[in-house]
Amino acid sequence: MTTIFKNIKELIQVRDKSVSKVSGKEMNELPTIKDAFLVVENDIITDYGSMDGMPAINEATIIDCEGKMILPSWCDSHTHIVYAGNREQEFVDRINGLTYEEIANRGGGILNSAKKLQECSEEDLYNQSAKRLEEVIQQGTGAVEIKSGYGLTVEAELKILRVIKKLQQKYAIPIKATFLGAHAFPKEYTDNKEAYVDLVIEEMLPKVAADKLADFIDVFCETGYFSVKQTERIMKAGIAHGLIPKIHVNQFTSIGGLQASVQNNALSVDHLEVMTMNDIEALKNSETMPVALPSCSYFLSIPYTPARKIMDAGLPLALATDYNPGSTPSGNMNFVVATACIKMKMTPEEAINAATINGAYAMNLEDEVGSITKGKKANFFITKEIPSYGFLPYSFGSNLIDVVYLNGEKV
Ligand code: NIG
Ligand code: FE
Repeated sequence: MTTIFKNIKELIQVRDKSVSKVSGKEMNELPTIKDAFLVVENDIITDYGSMDGMPAINEATIIDCEGKMILPSWCDSHTHIVYAGNREQEFVDRINGLTYEEIANRGGGILNSAKKLQECSEEDLYNQSAKRLEEVIQQGTGAVEIKSGYGLTVEAELKILRVIKKLQQKYAIPIKATFLGAHAFPKEYTDNKEAYVDLVIEEMLPKVAADKLADFIDVFCETGYFSVKQTERIMKAGIAHGLIPKIHVNQFTSIGGLQASVQNNALSVDHLEVMTMNDIEALKNSETMPVALPSCSYFLSIPYTPARKIMDAGLPLALATDYNPGSTPSGNMNFVVATACIKMKMTPEEAINAATINGAYAMNLEDEVGSITKGKKANFFITKEIPSYGFLPYSFGSNLIDVVYLNGEKV
């Protein structure tokens, strides 16, 4: 089946196959074709160009995009979509003056979500999570990473990863799975943290690997959570089981987790709200993608990742949502892109690059998605009529997506 999209006001993020990520000054370049056509055969992008050169194809479905733009789907490389229940009470507690840390120390936070998840049936967990996945697909996300980490027991962690597997089987969107057993220490391990690290490494990891339930290994490396030493042990064990590290670092403090992740060839380091010059130096000459999560900064009122400093150092940057019940109860990539422009002083070009091609790289999906490229998956969205692509982040509260396509099919 062939579909031709014609009269596209502007086709955004048109790239040659060889581009796997963009860094530094290149991030401010967003290749586009004005007055364009796009050809999709079955689930793949096969051709594009300017309207003057639109081919005549027999028996193709023609879709007129007059006044509208097409962007490759957002690539959300960091989410915790599989969770049970919500934490709006903690949200109110924070409004009334408690800090995120104080709430966690009282047994709220991640442990609160873990309790809810342990008590939730696999079917119910699947249904709650599928609803969120459907919501983000409607918001333009066309590739997503999902972490475990709200189980914190062998059985509950496996339950999350099985739910992720079912989502992979049921939905057209590419999903990558990350094992984050080291998200927090369960209460029983407060006085014997090493025993929990042992449980993650000796019991959880082998089962996760044997059932091929994850692509990546993650750790919440942070003061009061997993130390750099513990993070390194878990990362190395994950690597030995064929998992690639993608690590939570520098959310509240800079303690060396970033350096340890880079040394272990992490695919990405995520959060980075607190960055020293040493942290930025450590990312140079590495293949590790820094990932910023501006919705988390917004929701928790913590600093934003210093995007300008990172890009001015010649580094790449990706943007993701962090969709989770505690620090970011939103999976809306449109809001992420707008917030990156408004609060992190990224240009629309930089933010769109960060949310598409660089996001794809941070999931090892850069050959499949993240740009309008011949041979890539036909995952994209058509906007409503808009005057320019800069209008997307500018109109930060509007839904400007008209239609979403995954694998060449209208969702
Ligand atoms: O990425 N920082 C660690 N984990 C999550 C939030 C955890 C929670 O509060 O539930 C995050 O922000
Ligand atoms: Fe996270």
